[in-house]
Amino acid sequence: MAESSPLKSSRWFGGRDIPGFAHRAAMRASGFSRMAVEGRPVVGICNSWSEVVNCNMHFRGLADAVRRGVLTAGGFPLEFPTVSLGEQLMKPTTMLFRNLMAMDVEESIRAYPFDAVVLLGGCDKTVPAQLMGAASADVPAIMVTGGPATPAVFDGRQIGVGTDIWHYMDRVREGTLSMADYDRLEAAAGPSQGHCPEMGTASTMAAIVEGLGMTLPGAAAVPAMDSRRMQVAEMCGARAVDMALEGLRPSQVLTGEAFDNAITLMLSVGGSTNAILHLLAIAGRVGVNLTLDRFAELADRTPLVVNVRPAGRHLVEQVFHVGGIPAVMKILEPLLHTHAITATGKTVRDNLPSAVNPDGEVLADLDHPFQPPNGLAVVRGNLAPAGAVIKTSAASPELLVHEGPAVVFDSMGDMMARFDDPDLDVTADSVLVLRNTGPRGAPGMPEWGQLPIPSKLLRQGVTDMVRISDARMSGTAYGTCVLHVSPESAAGGPLGLIADGDIISLDAPAGTLSVRLSDAEIDERRRTSDTGAKAPPRRGYAALYVDHVMQADTGCDFDFLVGRSDDPAAEPEGVFDGWVGGW
Ligand code: FES
Repeated sequence: MAESSPLKSSRWFGGRDIPGFAHRAAMRASGFSRMAVEGRPVVGICNSWSEVVNCNMHFRGLADAVRRGVLTAGGFPLEFPTVSLGEQLMKPTTMLFRNLMAMDVEESIRAYPFDAVVLLGGCDKTVPAQLMGAASADVPAIMVTGGPATPAVFDGRQIGVGTDIWHYMDRVREGTLSMADYDRLEAAAGPSQGHCPEMGTASTMAAIVEGLGMTLPGAAAVPAMDSRRMQVAEMCGARAVDMALEGLRPSQVLTGEAFDNAITLMLSVGGSTNAILHLLAIAGRVGVNLTLDRFAELADRTPLVVNVRPAGRHLVEQVFHVGGIPAVMKILEPLLHTHAITATGKTVRDNLPSAVNPDGEVLADLDHPFQPPNGLAVVRGNLAPAGAVIKTSAASPELLVHEGPAVVFDSMGDMMARFDDPDLDVTADSVLVLRNTGPRGAPGMPEWGQLPIPSKLLRQGVTDMVRISDARMSGTAYGTCVLHVSPESAAGGPLGLIADGDIISLDAPAGTLSVRLSDAEIDERRRTSDTGAKAPPRRGYAALYVDHVMQADTGCDFDFLVGRSDDPAAEPEGVFDGWVGGW
């Protein structure tokens, strides 16, 4: 067996026994000499590069930079692929496969001889999936996110990939954007690789990675095409070698205080509601008891200090040019747990810049924020007993307290068939409801929560309505959309029981969402109503998913993946005791 070494990889490569022989021989077959593998920290580069994930297409170059950093610091880099999740091309939704990717990442890290890993993630779900997997494997880990793409320019104006595109789509439906302009917009919309450049889910998750302490300070906002992105990757590679030697594990970084810091940061940038699900899921992996109520508590004291779309005006690139996430965290310092340990091996306070001078245009200070606290609300009531969320910072203030009759759609197909019907009984006061779109119902909880405004109302000048669903919403989207209703309709939630004309009341400041029905009426409908739910899939991964996915209020992880094992990094007993397999 291996000589005594703190490195996990020494179990593979350190021994003079038959397994050691076989493992080194396998590496030699790949062209790596004994010098490369023996006695050095082996750093896995977990690469979510894929040609069907356009946001991550530059990751081969980033992986090369990580490799340089690892070698420079005396480690041995080994790159490996995993499932990757492309937000724009993957159907029905990447969220259906987040847990699959997380399992792939976890088991790859655990099963191979990695002493540390560098996670390369960018597009929305690739980042939380890697964090979830790395948290469960609990091998030293540091993340490099892809950086915001170069902003598109259309008719002389910088546009975000999502936020502005939604506006243009409404103009197409209104008939005020010509098809020729529509084609020009398509050609202009994606000028580079990198993730969506506004504060959508990817930018939010990148900021959260920094807020959690799982990357180097300043890493999140560096543009994808800026040479400093490669330098960040190189430095993370080098840092991973030190982390392997120090034994600094995700479970030491991902503490309850780290989650508080990340949530505070998320709220201060007007981040995506999708991040709520991901943070709940990651917390579940490390045994941190995070609840929706904690989001509400932190929202109550955290104002919006970053002026980025969709809640503000600018793009992430502008945040980078005024100091990036470290500047934001410096502004937030009074609200942060600054003694939390980060991937640098130092505390949040050690990592902060000594001072920051908010310009009042891109960054604001806590006393003069762009919006007051409570940019996110958690609402509950007889329509959402376990809770729902609404991003109030991207909603219409006059609709945050609203009562109106429901217009109910049983599914996405039902909605697409009817929402533009001139005979649809809908007014600006109506509350649009979409159900059977939650984790089990869709399945996979797609980003369908920004229900379209019916065209006949658009033509009347209506630009926002109260919309309620058990679905998610793109982080680049906006509007008065109540999301993540739990329990979902397909899991027996009351959302599945309401009917057209039922009066729904939303009071976001008070944290309530209810339907004007008595408990007895709800019980009666439960006995007699057809919720419109379709039969669940019975084959393959989708069947596993619907059988084990948890509800949105706990993050939609699989029930069997929650919690820490006693020694999650340990290989199963007996793995190294016998003959070697694979020949
Ligand atoms: Fe990949 Fe937005 S579509 S980050």
